[in-house]
Amino acid sequence: MLPRLTLVAALLVPCLAAAQSFAPAGWADELKLNEAVDQHPDPGIVEIDLVAKLADVQVDGKTVRAWTYNGSLPGPLVRTRVGDRLIVHFTNQLDQPTTVHWHGVRVPIDMDGVPDISQPEVRKGESFTYDFVVHDAGLYWYHPHVMSAAQVGFGLYGALLVEDPADGVSVDDQLTLVLSDIGFDARGVLEPADSGGSAGMVFGREGEFVLANGRRRPTLRARSGAPQRWRIVNAAKSRFFYLDLDGQPFTVIGTDGGFQETATRTDILLVTPGERIDVIVTPRGTAGTPLPLRAMLYNRGYGSVEYRAVEEVALIEFSSEPEVKAAPIATTRAMAAPSVVGATPVDVVLALPAMKNNKSEFQVNGVPFWKAKPYAAKLGEKQLWIVKNDSDWDHPFHLHGFFFHVIDERGQPVRPLALKDTVNVPMKSTIRLLIDFDERPGEWMFHCHILDHADGGLMGTVQVGDAPAKGHTHKPPY
Ligand code: C2O
Ligand code: CU
Repeated sequence: MLPRLTLVAALLVPCLAAAQSFAPAGWADELKLNEAVDQHPDPGIVEIDLVAKLADVQVDGKTVRAWTYNGSLPGPLVRTRVGDRLIVHFTNQLDQPTTVHWHGVRVPIDMDGVPDISQPEVRKGESFTYDFVVHDAGLYWYHPHVMSAAQVGFGLYGALLVEDPADGVSVDDQLTLVLSDIGFDARGVLEPADSGGSAGMVFGREGEFVLANGRRRPTLRARSGAPQRWRIVNAAKSRFFYLDLDGQPFTVIGTDGGFQETATRTDILLVTPGERIDVIVTPRGTAGTPLPLRAMLYNRGYGSVEYRAVEEVALIEFSSEPEVKAAPIATTRAMAAPSVVGATPVDVVLALPAMKNNKSEFQVNGVPFWKAKPYAAKLGEKQLWIVKNDSDWDHPFHLHGFFFHVIDERGQPVRPLALKDTVNVPMKSTIRLLIDFDERPGEWMFHCHILDHADGGLMGTVQVGDAPAKGHTHKPPY
């Protein structure tokens, strides 16, 4: 009997201990996100206003006239619970058309925010109501789909958190981290979206100032040894975040579509544009010696490591309380391993042909987006997309509306299983995605989430189910 009792006690004690907050008071004040105000009395409905407009924001001690949602950079955190209905009354007060795309959310096609394809663009002074159910717990985000590289780069993005109150992660100290960057000059004037011309498009323009929740090098406070849960989204239009906590480990519990099958540990964490990661960190250190969260150099193509410096994203300061001894957090998610048997193979070749007339364009299967015809999938069809990157640049590949599993070269799903909507395709390599087009007919986009690359042609659509009678043209801007 004794061993069994001891085992039960050992399991219970760390759980109870971990359910409390350890972080010092005001620990995340410098990383506070504005939150959208829910105006609906029903607990199952979140109803908010969202306005795209220019606003003065403070970045690194400068006043910058940014493009914002509701006047803040990033836009407000939208907090929902899994299964909620989300109603967003959106108004465009910008001088150019825009839309809102709900990245990663399995919305119906008419809520997907792609102009001409899923809705008319929302012009200056106009409004549009987004209304859909959030079916999957996880961190998602929203951004425009018109002139995306420009509009996202100027500040239009925000996080959508879909919480599962029963997810069983007993970590009280939680943070949503929106990572991004922005470029502006000494007077605080935004860097033009076309800086560097065609070469700038090929490089993927990065803003000089790295931001965490809109702030440069904010400070976070922690008690040594106490777990914190960070849900991270990379909302930068081109920059990869390769995160390092001075070698201290990250426990990854989830990614784009919520928890992964099992937790994994890593010393360095790659978050490419559009991706999300759910991690437990247990920073260890002493008062007076801050621990930096750094963005290390990551080679995503020429110019991304040459003459570039490691950036400090945030600093963690420790309280002087004694170190906490908390049990490691592990999560699991029962997921059936998907099979490629019966899946239709689809080739997707990404390329950057040599410059013509001093211009570069990216192509998918030999054509840029403006010459592309939609791919096709029958409703209920399973497809294996073989995405081959022939170019010398990495491409974080994003599919709207559906999750996929990454499949290895032997046809087996990569473990731990995880639901992805964005995955990096390294230069000169091939990855395989298993997609179940099981529901929601419509024309869905896929593109590189280096938004300069998407604008440069690296984009396409897939028509799921029968095409609507009325066609459309793919005309810029997107
Ligand atoms: Cu974040 Cu077309 O996507
Ligand atoms: Cu790309």
